[in-house]
Amino acid sequence: MEGYDASTYGDLIADVYDRWHPRGEGTETIAALLAELAGGAGGGRALELAIGTGRIALPLAERGVEVHGIDASEAMVAELRTKPGGGRIPVALGDFADVAVEGRFRLVYVVFNTFFALLTQAEQVRCFRNVAERLTDDGVFVIEAFVPDPKRFERQQSVNTNRVTVDEVLLDVSRHDPVAQRIDSQHMLMRAEGIRLLPVSLRYAWPSELDLMAQLAGLRLRERWAGWRREPFTAASGAHVSVYGRPGSP
Ligand SMILES: C[S@@+](CC[C@H](N)C(=O)[O-])C[C@H]1O[C@@H](n2cnc3c(N)ncnc32)[C@H](O)[C@@H]1O
Repeated sequence: MEGYDASTYGDLIADVYDRWHPRGEGTETIAALLAELAGGAGGGRALELAIGTGRIALPLAERGVEVHGIDASEAMVAELRTKPGGGRIPVALGDFADVAVEGRFRLVYVVFNTFFALLTQAEQVRCFRNVAERLTDDGVFVIEAFVPDPKRFERQQSVNTNRVTVDEVLLDVSRHDPVAQRIDSQHMLMRAEGIRLLPVSLRYAWPSELDLMAQLAGLRLRERWAGWRREPFTAASGAHVSVYGRPGSP
């Protein structure tokens, strides 16, 4: 999408993001597993790539984990800063593929399909390599992502009605490029006052491709679950939580 860069999605969606994706039981479950992987309260440091408004970082920090973040969108980070505890989380503004932060982390994680916000295979591989440099010897890199399903598209397009209320309609309109593994979408928020366009672009990868990227970065797949309650990953799973670490480490 011409004119779309790393901060576009966050800058345009920041004011509605928390209304659409509120904290709740699901986010507590995610934070609980991440806290365990970081070694619990007082354990290792954690780094969230694309921390956004702190939907996951805040409940993780509330569990006693020292959480840091990176995000490209000042508007998303401004929302984080308005929340209790949100002022105490160090956030580096920038592209998370660079992983431009100091020190090493026991846990680096990227959730909610956001690894796919890196729009080329080269950028995704570069991110894996930079993450590997920032992990402690026993550290892990956790990715939560969907399993690609090209059947979702007919003639490489889709339209989904995601919300219908008395005063608004949310349509998701997408085009698919199976060669580049790219999906360009618009969330179209329609109200009596007019239509608001919230663009999102992504480059998806199958779990096997992610595993290969990990190998290129000197990491190996340790665990793959279908969800945050460690559900078994099967051929029917539509999403995965994958945990990568250094070969031979515990
Ligand atoms: C779907 S939100 C996820 C936010 C948060 N991780 C959560 O789970 O609620 C995606 C976030 O990724 C950020 N983002 C997208 N591409 C980025 C990039 N290349 N570098 C840094 N941040 C990026 C956006 O600004 C936004 O905050």
